[in-house]
Amino acid sequence: MKVTIDGQEIEVAPGTTILQAARMIGGESVPPAMCYYSKLEKTGGKCRCCLVEVTKGSDADPRPMPKLVASCVTGCMDGMEVASKSSERVTEARKAVTEFLLINHPLDCPVCDQAGECDLQNLSFEHGKAQSRFIEDKRTFEPENIGDKIQLHMNRCILCQRCVQVAEQLTDYRVHGVLNRGDHAQISTYVAAAIDNDFSGNMIDVCPVGALTDKTFRFKSRVWFNKPFNAHRNCENPECCGKATLWMFGNEIQRVTARKDIYHEVEDFICNTCRFDKKEVTDWVIEGPRKFEKDSVINQNNYTRPMEKVIMNTEKGILEGREQDRKKISMAQIPFNNQKKQ
Ligand code: SF4
Ligand code: FES
Repeated sequence: MKVTIDGQEIEVAPGTTILQAARMIGGESVPPAMCYYSKLEKTGGKCRCCLVEVTKGSDADPRPMPKLVASCVTGCMDGMEVASKSSERVTEARKAVTEFLLINHPLDCPVCDQAGECDLQNLSFEHGKAQSRFIEDKRTFEPENIGDKIQLHMNRCILCQRCVQVAEQLTDYRVHGVLNRGDHAQISTYVAAAIDNDFSGNMIDVCPVGALTDKTFRFKSRVWFNKPFNAHRNCENPECCGKATLWMFGNEIQRVTARKDIYHEVEDFICNTCRFDKKEVTDWVIEGPRKFEKDSVINQNNYTRPMEKVIMNTEKGILEGREQDRKKISMAQIPFNNQKKQ
């Protein structure tokens, strides 16, 4: 089947969606995707970020589709013509969807661990507006503890449901899901059951925003102060690929994540032992610096010399400064009564 996206023709197999075809072409025609995840089944169709205009349905029925369609759940037809980047309607619609997603999302990027690698930040940067027309109060939720490894900030959640699919497809049993409807919809665990199984940490990686973050990395560093290295180990868990990205500060592994591709999707899932328990350099065989996108925030912290061995002569003063900062922002370590009243 032939499909044309923004004037670029490509041959695809039956069953290919417009988003997949656009990713085969690459470049600016690829629609943004906040809920679709190629490594998980049954994702997509939730966020409406990936809207495109079908200007010709197919050779058999060339009528255009009257409404914009979600490209992640719309299949290609032979002779179909699609406008993505080139459509003004699409540009306007993406702005509207971004504004809609931000209606309830807090603007707490300065204190959010996801800042710098947040898909919603990127989406607002590329497709958003500078102002909001929303004057009502944003949704708020009672804080909820979902275990000792994963931090949930429900007010940042955009209900993409990727994490639900991770639990459904990767872990032995699912204890969380979307509860309630409409404005009250939220990700929660049933009867306060903690998320505790071997692959639950992957929810952190698939979450496009800062709603699910790594508790063991909480407030340790901004991601752009870390240097990411690809590494692997012989993991005893047969379902774990053992290939990860280590986020280092000096010679310290501050965080372990799965490796991600250019669409910020993990290449292969990793187990919780690799993610949370292997934080010594000796636990890993370090392959070298991770490749990252040219325009990524993390790129600001680029590598200045070859790294045969991961020992970085970071200035001692800087490391000490970081320690002091860390103490100050780790409120949990400060008894409440010792905090100065303003
Ligand atoms: S917590 Fe994250 S991954 Fe889960 S539904 Fe919300 S935004 Fe999506
Ligand atoms: S990526 Fe298509 S609807 Fe979310």
